[in-house]
Amino acid sequence: MSGVNEIRSTFLNFFAENDHEIVSSSPLVPRNDPTLMFTNAGMVQFKNVFTGVEKRPYQRATTSQKCVRAGGKHNDLDNVGYTARHLTFFEMLGNFSFGDYFKERAIELAWTLITRDFGLKKDKLLVTVYHTDDDAAALWKKIAGFSDDRIIRIPTSDNFWAMGDTGPCGPCSEIFIDRGEHIWGGPPGSPEEDGDRFLEFWNLVFMQFEQVTKEDRQPLPRPSIDTGMGLERMACIMQGVDSVFETDLFRNLIDATASALGSGPQEQTVASFRVIADHLRSSAFLVADGVLPSNEGRGYVLRRIMRRAMRHAQLLGAKEPLMHRLVWALVREMGQAYPELVRAERLIEETLRLEESRFRKTLARGLAILDEKSASLKKGDMFDGDVAFTLYDTYGFPLDLTQDALKSRGIGVDQASFSDAMERQREKARASWAGSGEAASEAIWFPLRERLGATEFLGYETESAEGVVAALVKDGKEVDSLKAGEQGAIVLNQTPFYGESGGQVGDTGVLLGEGGVKFRVTDTQKKVG
Ligand code: SER
Repeated sequence: MSGVNEIRSTFLNFFAENDHEIVSSSPLVPRNDPTLMFTNAGMVQFKNVFTGVEKRPYQRATTSQKCVRAGGKHNDLDNVGYTARHLTFFEMLGNFSFGDYFKERAIELAWTLITRDFGLKKDKLLVTVYHTDDDAAALWKKIAGFSDDRIIRIPTSDNFWAMGDTGPCGPCSEIFIDRGEHIWGGPPGSPEEDGDRFLEFWNLVFMQFEQVTKEDRQPLPRPSIDTGMGLERMACIMQGVDSVFETDLFRNLIDATASALGSGPQEQTVASFRVIADHLRSSAFLVADGVLPSNEGRGYVLRRIMRRAMRHAQLLGAKEPLMHRLVWALVREMGQAYPELVRAERLIEETLRLEESRFRKTLARGLAILDEKSASLKKGDMFDGDVAFTLYDTYGFPLDLTQDALKSRGIGVDQASFSDAMERQREKARASWAGSGEAASEAIWFPLRERLGATEFLGYETESAEGVVAALVKDGKEVDSLKAGEQGAIVLNQTPFYGESGGQVGDTGVLLGEGGVKFRVTDTQKKVG
């Protein structure tokens, strides 16, 4: 009972037996939260259920949720491959109560599952609670029989969970396992807490509040439960390994990479194998959920992830595109739990193959420039930001790829001069817009585009979604409002409406806003992105 697939099903079945509905993972692009880059926790799909805006036919649910933490508030991209635990894609197992049970039952259920079904030893376990949460501390004492020194009170945001700047939130209690003295580290709250000895694997959030704005925090109508257990961490514990990359699922992906390359990981190359395995997962799942590599927004995060993996493939001596040849192995490992992966297998392969073929055209040349321009640098030096910009602009190297390439030598990148170079490029683009002779009424779009960025298109995957109104335009001018009966254009931060292009007409439909506001969409145009 310790393979990743078995741990997942044991978890879900345990909660199903305790009257929870097994709900499918929601997509990585949140449908109900236009401000969040990617789904980064199990509770995201339930956000509106916690706040009472949305009703579901059940009050208890359990999920294994696909999560990506890259770009946005929770960003793990830079660390992946170099630490034992960071991943850009991971699965979060969770149980949820929407105004049904609260702290006591949540702690009881968690305790039964980990000590009975997962068989963890009680004397290896300890928990944290938010420093003022006396209830949770007393309940742990009662249910688990912990002495006070095993219930650690933490006064920081580590024990107050928030999804983002706004949304449901509350104090939380984290469960840790002591993996033994042979690993360096101290218990949470101690100066050595960053070590790997004490591993947090389950976070029980007692959702009590909604952060409405930065200053305004309101109690939720019905206190609720949101828990998140990192599946990969649990697999480490159950399989007695130190790193997520040594669990069965990752070992199989790394083996598949090794056989595609004809050589396995060595001490010098193991980080590259790990980066590839992790990034294969995030790339494949993002494509399956409708994200395609691009130069903006989510698509750009995907491109950065893909290209980071592709550079590591090159480092490992891949003579031709590699990533698409690993997709079958991922589908074998995870296709049963996530049928969308099976459905999108060809699209994922094709997307990876195209991106890697394209990038390989400039990759070798870019790496040669990087080597040449950094040859005389030593640890602690800064790499020229102008060159980093050329690598970005001409050779398709995302900035973090250049940073990643120099990281092992302890060299940073001069980001200020990188930004300057970027700004000079924008100036040039502005000047050429000004001279492009567009009608005066069209001039409005350029500054809007600069201020707001491009609108993200979600329509490959869905025909309805939430979005934020980024600007209103009427008669070639930006306005603050449009009144009933008026006509105008609405710019959104993201949209499932297809904009007229390539001979296809723009979509029509309707936008619904708070308080019953309705806007009929008679056409969709794609101006400067
Ligand atoms: N939302 C909490 C977390 O992400 C628990 O699921 O840790």
